[in-house]
Amino acid sequence: MSTAVKLVTKVWIAPGCIVCDACETTAPSVFEVKHDDGTCLIRPAALDAEFTKPLTPDIIQAAEECPVDVIKFDLIEVPADQAPKFATAAAAPAADKAEPHAPAAAHAEGPAPGAKASPEKPAPKKPTEKPKSTDPAIAALIAAATIRGGAAGIIKGADAPSALKEIQKQSPDKLPPDARYAKVIEQSKPEKKDGEPSRREILSAGVAWGIMGLGVGVPSLMGFQRFMMPNVLEEPEPKFRCGPLSRFANLQPGEVDETFKNSGKFWIIREEERLAAVSIVCTHLGCIPNWLGNDRKFKCPCHGSGFKPNGTNFEGPAPRPLERFKINIDAGQVVVDRSKKFLAMGPNDTAVWNDPDASIPV
Ligand code: FES
Repeated sequence: MSTAVKLVTKVWIAPGCIVCDACETTAPSVFEVKHDDGTCLIRPAALDAEFTKPLTPDIIQAAEECPVDVIKFDLIEVPADQAPKFATAAAAPAADKAEPHAPAAAHAEGPAPGAKASPEKPAPKKPTEKPKSTDPAIAALIAAATIRGGAAGIIKGADAPSALKEIQKQSPDKLPPDARYAKVIEQSKPEKKDGEPSRREILSAGVAWGIMGLGVGVPSLMGFQRFMMPNVLEEPEPKFRCGPLSRFANLQPGEVDETFKNSGKFWIIREEERLAAVSIVCTHLGCIPNWLGNDRKFKCPCHGSGFKPNGTNFEGPAPRPLERFKINIDAGQVVVDRSKKFLAMGPNDTAVWNDPDASIPV
């Protein structure tokens, strides 16, 4: 009697992608990471079940390696003699390895016999070295960053204990950013069970992250920062002094001044005849959009909401424009008061912005 095989019929990405490249590295014909848009897409061909079925091992491996567990998929079960040949025989053992995930365990019932590498499939961009005995998600991050950064080195062997001691001696604020990211990722994951990688193993991955930091590409770090920022921001003082009005004399209509994005959590925007202070918090679920000067829009990396230069929402799930703060001139200084907000309720419901406290005429 024929054994059963599970096949992926549908794959999608849940909110929360951190644009790390791991999935595209594992399954380049299924996932496309869009750094400019701060998101990851399913390639059009992979919306078809007949396309995804032979790629089942790769898709399961990508889901297993995803650091933030946003890759989801549906499975069907078919007799092995009716299953298509898997496109990448080499990926099957990785799927078997994903024992803690129910779908992967189901897949371990066995790939179709006679599986062979497809000549059409792009060669996977695998790194030459991966740290051993590491959380697969962190290993995937390191792999992706290694590919990006080119010459990144991963510490191991005799050098590891002394490097680990060095890291352990440091307080968190003194650690290299990469080590901090690895630690936070570790803490954001569910409690580990027996048989899964230990904290020590994950900390070792953190050391590897710290040591390889110099080789990691800047875009990769920016991806993590986009992920991290909403959770680590400290609230600034409500009143924020921005200097004299002349400071913004060169700001043209439609332009955005990002000077106070980090320190004050607002942008100064210029409309035709006024300046306003716009909150940096997305009105969907609170992520922090990026100002894309070339595209003249704010773009949220979490779920793709877009906002015009004046903060009006025009694409994605954000239900209303970015909020504005009270702004006025006090003793010759532009002062933004974050304790008073002006909330437009929709792209065509912005009358509140005409309140005298919501802008400064220029
Ligand atoms: Fe969802 Fe910004 S938080 S689009």
